[in-house]
Amino acid sequence: MVDITASNREGWSRHAYRAWVRGKGSPQAVAEELKAAPWRKLEPFCSVLGDPEGRKVANLLGSNGKAAVSLALLGADVAVVDLSAENARYAMELAEAAGVKLRYLVADVMNLPAEQAPADCDLVLMELGILHWFTDLGRFFKVAAAMLKPGGRMIVRDFHPVKNKLLRWKDGRMTADGDYFDESLRAGAVPYSVFLTNEERAEVPEVYTRGWTMGDIVTAVADAGLVIRSLKEEKGAVQRWVFPEEAPAGTEERMPGIYTLTADRIAP
Ligand SMILES: C[S@@+](CC[C@H](N)C(=O)[O-])C[C@H]1O[C@@H](n2cnc3c(N)ncnc32)[C@H](O)[C@@H]1O
Repeated sequence: MVDITASNREGWSRHAYRAWVRGKGSPQAVAEELKAAPWRKLEPFCSVLGDPEGRKVANLLGSNGKAAVSLALLGADVAVVDLSAENARYAMELAEAAGVKLRYLVADVMNLPAEQAPADCDLVLMELGILHWFTDLGRFFKVAAAMLKPGGRMIVRDFHPVKNKLLRWKDGRMTADGDYFDESLRAGAVPYSVFLTNEERAEVPEVYTRGWTMGDIVTAVADAGLVIRSLKEEKGAVQRWVFPEEAPAGTEERMPGIYTLTADRIAP
């Protein structure tokens, strides 16, 4: 049996820093972009986020820290939880260059010591490549919900299961011949490997993911005791980047590649 967390820690920790520098720019250059437009990275959350000023935020699986630093620039008190020490290095340099404070916990979010876990948060935010790293979705949402204060909000924006599990693209054609209900673990290349040379890529271990259906996701959020406020499925040019280049023109107008689910911990 694969130890998915150990494999994923390895995969996400080898060469991530240099991949982000190549793919996104140096932390100093990115800090200038974020300072000039702190809302840009958070644009998709505008309607559900509210004003970050003075709010306590846990950014789970926050990777290179772009969203976390954007929130901090807008006045939030932000903690990131992420497995990768290389991501942490990039994010902390980014925060320093942006002139903001950031707490970055290099840890498995499912096994955080109680004294380290973010608590009493106004907001738990996570985006773009989150839920498929977990094999127990019910427990994951309970962990996330426990970080919220009563009245706090959880926002998860992630790749749509229909796009990830069902659809396939080949030679300019799209087919729906994946298995939406597939529960198996899948091995693959870590996403940042597109920024690596062939030699570097060969040194990065494969990572493992487990896809979830929309029913799994909604049910696990409800089971965690959260009240679902909205489930927005994206449409149009804004999400064209999610689909492969070979996807037929107009795909992004006809199906969702990303969804945003917003749920609250209600005050007793
Ligand atoms: C695709 S990235 C998330 C994208 C990121 N939020 C962004 O917008 O750039 C996935 C992240 O999850 C982290 N990760 C995977 N499994 C984890 C776990 N069990 N605990 C904490 N972090 C984990 C990886 O280190 C990686 O940084």
